[in-house]
Amino acid sequence: MIAHNTSLPSQPGPIGVFDSGYGGLTVLKSLQEALPQCDYLYLGDNARAPYGPRSFDLVYEFTLQAVRRLFERGCHLVILACNTASAKALRSIQQRDLPGIDPDRRVLGVIRPTVEAVGSITRSGHVGILGTVGTVTSQSYDIEIAHLHPHIKVSSHACPMWVPLVECCEADSDGANYFVAKDLSTLMQSDPLIDTIILGCTHYPLLLPKIAKYAPEGVTLLSQGHIVADSLADYLHRHPEMEARLSRGGSSQYLTTDDTAKFNDLATLFLGHSVSSQHEVL
Ligand code: DGL
Repeated sequence: MIAHNTSLPSQPGPIGVFDSGYGGLTVLKSLQEALPQCDYLYLGDNARAPYGPRSFDLVYEFTLQAVRRLFERGCHLVILACNTASAKALRSIQQRDLPGIDPDRRVLGVIRPTVEAVGSITRSGHVGILGTVGTVTSQSYDIEIAHLHPHIKVSSHACPMWVPLVECCEADSDGANYFVAKDLSTLMQSDPLIDTIILGCTHYPLLLPKIAKYAPEGVTLLSQGHIVADSLADYLHRHPEMEARLSRGGSSQYLTTDDTAKFNDLATLFLGHSVSSQHEVL
């Protein structure tokens, strides 16, 4: 149970950003650009990544641990910058756990804002989803799109090799060419009318040069970073009570459950500036 009243309950805190590993840094980067005045606390559960092939129960358990830790560290608002966690854990945390932990804190995900955005982007009304096995089998995108845009036809394909390629620094390798070409071709064969592909995993923008190389011309590739950042800015505008609980020092801190030196190297590569992370045990 979170201590509601940790040191100073109403003291403003950073925005918590959680991912299984490095992928959420693509979202963090967009958040830092859109809301540079805010403080951020990033937590990557690198020691237990990837989450994609894990069961619902385990992704829920790991994600809840991470959310509790970010709350304990003073966050009032946590973004699950991970589609797998958003698909498998967000609803349970929002509906079952949050009221008991602290009804004034919030946890938001990345699927809903992406689905809201896609309606005005597709012209053919045929949308492809690429994601982890967990995200695709949860059918979270299919369900949300059917709800918000019933006219859109959705085709999904899981890319189980893409996250390991990123986590193992193989995003530029020949091996990445092979898997990206193969998975894109399978998706496009399932519906050649697809004109918009949602990169439904926050790791995938790190493969963007390869994805753009193998995607058919004219197909829009939708990365989530700026969509989530715009959606958060809008949320804070509509919820001044939450905005008032965010500290404004323009700082970012990084926590990883795995090796800090490795995290620092990779995060520096992704973010374009040096990072000094702390080790965190969940
Ligand atoms: N970056 C994550 C996502 O958006 C998770 C990838 C994984 O851990 O499998 O789904």
